[in-house]
Amino acid sequence: MKNIFKQGTNLSKPTLLMLHGTGGNETDLLAIAAHIDPEASVLSVRGNVSENGMPRFFKRLSEGIFDMEDLKIRTEELYNFIGQAADEHGFDRTQVVAIGYSNGANIAANLLFTYTGALKGAILHHPMVPNRHTDLPDLANTPVFIAAGTNDPICPAEESIDLEKLLSDAGAEVELHWENFGHQLTMPEVEAAKNWYDKL
Ligand code: MLT
Repeated sequence: MKNIFKQGTNLSKPTLLMLHGTGGNETDLLAIAAHIDPEASVLSVRGNVSENGMPRFFKRLSEGIFDMEDLKIRTEELYNFIGQAADEHGFDRTQVVAIGYSNGANIAANLLFTYTGALKGAILHHPMVPNRHTDLPDLANTPVFIAAGTNDPICPAEESIDLEKLLSDAGAEVELHWENFGHQLTMPEVEAAKNWYDKL
């Protein structure tokens, strides 16, 4: 997968896996990675699907309606890619914290829904429930931060509430943070994510 890898200055830190929103690319979230943890290594990935030229991590049939077969294949592809990147760059596969926005948050959530130990933790900005027809793996000791907007037209509030419940029921430690905005990624929610990350 097309990506940018930046070696961190403190190798005891997690590796931050950055996953952009629809129409974004692997450069979009680099400033956020540097803000969350300037010492951590960063693996920022571009989604392999193109929707009318807009990169995404998996296909959708329409807004909010996912192509479940493609989601499954692309989630496996990303999971395997993280392993390959860990071998290539020498970071610890078990110490990866995903930071995703929108479509990127949705594939990060689906990594959690699919594999035990895919991620050490995750910061999900404006995610949805990626799959309502699956049993989640054991997510004990997996911290997850969800940032949601009370007026988000793309991810209605129930999506965040349901996602928090599904992850918590699987054993994850979830913090759900609300901003009174829409779907945009706001600085206050990035600050809230940083406060959460600093306590990991
Ligand atoms: C998705 O397709 O993953 C969500 O609808 C969010 C987005 O617009 O990318």
